[in-house]
Amino acid sequence: MDKLEPALSRPDPKTRADAFKSGMRRLASGVALITSAAGGQRAGLVATAVSSVSTSPPTLLICVNRNASAHDVIDRSGAFAVNLLSAGDVTLVDMFSKTARRAERFTSGDWRTLVTGAPLLGSALAAFDCQVVQRLGYETHTIFLGEVMQVRTAAQEIDPLLYMDSAYRRLERAA
Ligand SMILES: Cc1cc2nc3c(=O)[nH]c(=O)nc-3n(C[C@H](O)[C@H](O)[C@H](O)COP(=O)(O)O)c2cc1C
Repeated sequence: MDKLEPALSRPDPKTRADAFKSGMRRLASGVALITSAAGGQRAGLVATAVSSVSTSPPTLLICVNRNASAHDVIDRSGAFAVNLLSAGDVTLVDMFSKTARRAERFTSGDWRTLVTGAPLLGSALAAFDCQVVQRLGYETHTIFLGEVMQVRTAAQEIDPLLYMDSAYRRLERAA
């Protein structure tokens, strides 16, 4: 087989990772707060790695870094909530993504529990109360599959918070 030209050969790991990150920055997504509670301790993180998996049974997945403080709380409790943020709750993002602000995480917002005991945010666009049904460790992250036990959806239409190209954004109609 012909050798690949240097320009077409597989880039080194750093170049490949940088290209991956700049490609993924183009993916516009909603922003969620993933929350959990175990032994009286509440924990949470901002996440965009959230996806629907199946409807029967209703299942979603989250992808959580092993170093995030919420990781072991989710693992121990076997439960988590996915709270889809509205543009009005953008102030919660810094609290739930900056380690220096960990202590402030549940000091504002209307938090409640439903089936699993994971904290659900009253002002969320939608909040999914999930029980962990499978875990898959992959390199730095764990993918948790959660069966959705209950869903709360906001009664009125609310502006979602979006994230793209390292910035928080609002939705605009395309036409
Ligand atoms: C927009 C945005 C999206 C993020 N998405 C994820 C994610 O999907 N999974 C993840 O593990 N961390 C994600 N993070 C990072 C975590 O929010 C952050 O590392 C974590 O809250 C720090 O946790 P700790 O201080 O509790 O350890 C994201 C951060 C931001 C700002």
